[in-house]
Amino acid sequence: MMKSLPNDDPRNFIQQAKVHCAYCNGGFPQKHPFQDQRIDVHRSWLFFPFHRFYIFFFERILGNLIGDPNFALPYWNWDSIQGMQIPSYFTTPNSSLYHKLRNYKHMPPHLVDLNYDILSPKIRTQDQQVSYNLAFMYKQMVLANTKELFMGSPYRLGDSAQPGPGSIEFAPHNTIHDWMGGVDTPNHEDMGTFYTAARDPIFYVHHSNSDRLWELWTKLEGGRRDYRDDPDWLDSEFFFYDENLNLVRVKVRDSLDTKLLGYVYEEVDLPWLNFAP
Ligand code: C2O
Repeated sequence: MMKSLPNDDPRNFIQQAKVHCAYCNGGFPQKHPFQDQRIDVHRSWLFFPFHRFYIFFFERILGNLIGDPNFALPYWNWDSIQGMQIPSYFTTPNSSLYHKLRNYKHMPPHLVDLNYDILSPKIRTQDQQVSYNLAFMYKQMVLANTKELFMGSPYRLGDSAQPGPGSIEFAPHNTIHDWMGGVDTPNHEDMGTFYTAARDPIFYVHHSNSDRLWELWTKLEGGRRDYRDDPDWLDSEFFFYDENLNLVRVKVRDSLDTKLLGYVYEEVDLPWLNFAP
């Protein structure tokens, strides 16, 4: 339904992908007098809150179009053993979730390498890959026990873009983008590069899982701290279109409680939680 809306409707599927693109690759300058610096939500402490809002508005638009205000995006839990393949409803050619520009070598039953290295992919058996992935998740979630390690580096007005990614953003988030993207396209379009990534419907369930991991991390071992006492982070703002085609301004401080955004994540086993390497 989003794909068939007029091209200039902000709820149109490609327009939504462009909203993501607008916040990547330094597309816009920072405000005066810092216009020599660019705005980018990646590789910094803006990564988690920006993408939470992004999929929040996407979810509301979808829910509105199908007339179900309770609609919630599913998550692709690639951190569980059963989730380490691309979910089959994304790979069925006549599904609206199918997408052509992907790496055809990575279709099911191929397992994802959560720490995929696009320049030198590793060959592992299925069992080796599962153990590798679980130990890697342990490292990125449990061992990344400070806000700097997990959330990414502070990025304040006047700072250069992309000061440094957090553990999950760096991998598996980036690595799955690389692993999904096409092999015959110049920049691994669509998932493998920022400007086209959100044109692949799998982007949204990939991001709901990344968002879920942020939520899980804050609750690990009795609670871990993100930047929620830093006013520069809390007051960072983004613009999105809502389901009524209104341009709305949101602040990071309004992203912190998922219940206020209308969702909680279904709890499932976390096979990596006690999988110390
Ligand atoms: Cu804005 Cu998965 O990236």
